[in-house]
Amino acid sequence: MTHKRTKIVQADIGTDKNYKAVSPPLYLSSTYRFEGFEKEGQYDYGRSGNPNRDALGKAIAELEGGAGGVVTASGMAAIDLVTNLLSSDELIVAPHDCYGGTHRLLTHRQNQGRFRTLFIDQADPKALASALEQKPSLILIETPSNPLMRLVDIAEICKAAKNIGALVAVDNTFLSPARQLPLSLGADFAIHSTTKYLNGHSDVVGGCIVAKTPEHFEQLGWWANCTGVTGAPFDAFMTLRGMRTLHARMDIAESNALALAKFLKKHKAVDHVYYPGLRSDAGYKLMKKQQSGPGAMLSFDIKGGREAAKTVLESVSLFQLAESLGGVESLICHPATMTHRAMDADARAIAGIKETLIRISVGLEDKTDLISDLKDAFAKI
Ligand SMILES: Cc1ncc(COP(=O)(O)O)c(C=O)c1O
Repeated sequence: MTHKRTKIVQADIGTDKNYKAVSPPLYLSSTYRFEGFEKEGQYDYGRSGNPNRDALGKAIAELEGGAGGVVTASGMAAIDLVTNLLSSDELIVAPHDCYGGTHRLLTHRQNQGRFRTLFIDQADPKALASALEQKPSLILIETPSNPLMRLVDIAEICKAAKNIGALVAVDNTFLSPARQLPLSLGADFAIHSTTKYLNGHSDVVGGCIVAKTPEHFEQLGWWANCTGVTGAPFDAFMTLRGMRTLHARMDIAESNALALAKFLKKHKAVDHVYYPGLRSDAGYKLMKKQQSGPGAMLSFDIKGGREAAKTVLESVSLFQLAESLGGVESLICHPATMTHRAMDADARAIAGIKETLIRISVGLEDKTDLISDLKDAFAKI
């Protein structure tokens, strides 16, 4: 059987019938000629369908092991898309420490009366059991969580969800299908901000939701066309191009991340390291159970308060002080004032996101250069 690594390198390669181009052509046309009166071809209009978008959705679905993938204009559009399956009296249970934009979306959609949202600590069995008693229609999981890298047991939550007839969607952005396969653990949907590891080069904003069943794939496709959140052809073309190297990128970035985590753990300026690849990490055992590797995201609390964090962030030269993650280049950020500023201070405190927390997206540079950049920045505190 062909490995997924092989399949993604080869996705849509050599399919061009016109000129035998090895790399798939880009189809920018917004509209398609009918073959005749009432004789529609495979595509009619770019919002409803496009060859590049379809190739990307198929490739991501293949990696995730789902029936199909709906490609959206952003990760947020993919998360919003799945909520169309709910009506106003239905409940979504989400992690209290999810990505700030997801927290904002679910909070404001609730305020609008679109559905009800309950944020809980999904790692707390009591909180989860009491949330399930309220019969949610959808459980949204984000593991590892952003930015504290906390893990929750996908298979356990899916089992409990199935007992009450709830659907489960897993935001798999932080690991990508190269390291975690939520559908194989019982989830109904795997969601991606393809902006991150799937595209991998920090030059496209996009999203995708993979459905396990053909029925859900069709429903999501219908809503994507209806609401017009489908992704652009050029973005899909770029993302598929980036995805061909997903496994190779992840292997290098992950090995760098482990080296950085070990360095940080020993450094006297560092209070705590959050990286499930460390044996001492609270998530290590679960990481071994449900992931094929720890991935390349990590965070740490620095000693010396907000000022020390500011010094480090302003002193690094190789790391880019920027939001986002999953690109070939290493990024560093301050979640409290950057990625998670959309959450109010109380919600941040509940989630455990302190002013001393620094998050790193580890890239593909030489690990010794990354370590020496951090070492120099710590020396300035
Ligand atoms: C875990 C996670 N999910 C979803 C999103 C949203 O994706 P996008 O920025 O592509 O809309 C992000 C963005 O950082 C994220 O980190």
